[in-house]
Amino acid sequence: MSKLSIIGAGAVGTSCANWAMIKNLAEEIVLVDIIPDLAKGKALDLVQSSPLFGYSGKIWGTEDFSAIKDSDVVIITAGKPRQPGMSREDLLHINKEIVKSCAEKIKEFAKNSIVIVVSNPLDAMVYVAYKITEFPKNRVIGMAGVLDSARYRYFIAEALGVSPKDVQALVMGIHGDLMLPLVRFANVSGIPITKLLPKEKIEEIVKRTKLGGGEIVSYLKTGSAFITPGLSVAEMAESIIKDEKRVLTCSVYLEGEYGINGVFLGVPVILGKNGIEKIIEIELLPEEKEALKRCENACRELINLLNF
Ligand code: LAC
Repeated sequence: MSKLSIIGAGAVGTSCANWAMIKNLAEEIVLVDIIPDLAKGKALDLVQSSPLFGYSGKIWGTEDFSAIKDSDVVIITAGKPRQPGMSREDLLHINKEIVKSCAEKIKEFAKNSIVIVVSNPLDAMVYVAYKITEFPKNRVIGMAGVLDSARYRYFIAEALGVSPKDVQALVMGIHGDLMLPLVRFANVSGIPITKLLPKEKIEEIVKRTKLGGGEIVSYLKTGSAFITPGLSVAEMAESIIKDEKRVLTCSVYLEGEYGINGVFLGVPVILGKNGIEKIIEIELLPEEKEALKRCENACRELINLLNF
């Protein structure tokens, strides 16, 4: 029997539970939130759609963290979202304490689980979860690359007027303005986008991708994106629970890969029942390496501010 727990019944947590249900991802989905009754209400609303949708599993909500016991995957979405004018880094200290307390509960109640962190600033928060749980690095993963790549793919598809399904692309590095939407590898059914779009348009798409989360914050005003973030993390959980071995860009602890040590950054990996089963190292051009180095430096600065 598979079990998925989601900590944080805010917009991203609820969206993730909703997608998980649509995907029939687990027989049991638990939502946990410290706000009294919030997770219960969200879970009840979700589960009441099951007769219409045809889901037979269990979905429930609680304030009691012991509910995450025996989870295959625990997703941490708890934390404050960005408000207009705030960078993801502004959230560092507030969310550090929140993620730390979630990680302590995971260590206590779900010590064999695989943890996926969504809270921002992502690459620093996943580091917090890694340090606090003391789980092996294959079992602590950050969600960002799937979301950033989805945005990149969508913008490419939109510019070309083609189905987004046929666009493949990857975004590596930090989940912030320094991220690397790689142009060389972006393609439409195998055709490089450099053959299909003018340079200026590609530059515009790359820029819009980097600021993709902020664009939505500026419209929503009271929070950040939640629908595609929810699906992105559900995709990762699905690859783990169903052992699909998908190749997805995830924020992982690097120990020498890409010449980087001791920080979490987004790189392509194989995700299966053991979590990160392999980090895929691709050869980068000198300017790409430099850009990744800038991500590493930015991430290290954040980690230093965490005072661990
Ligand atoms: C975004 C937030 C989830 O990129 O970081 O929309």
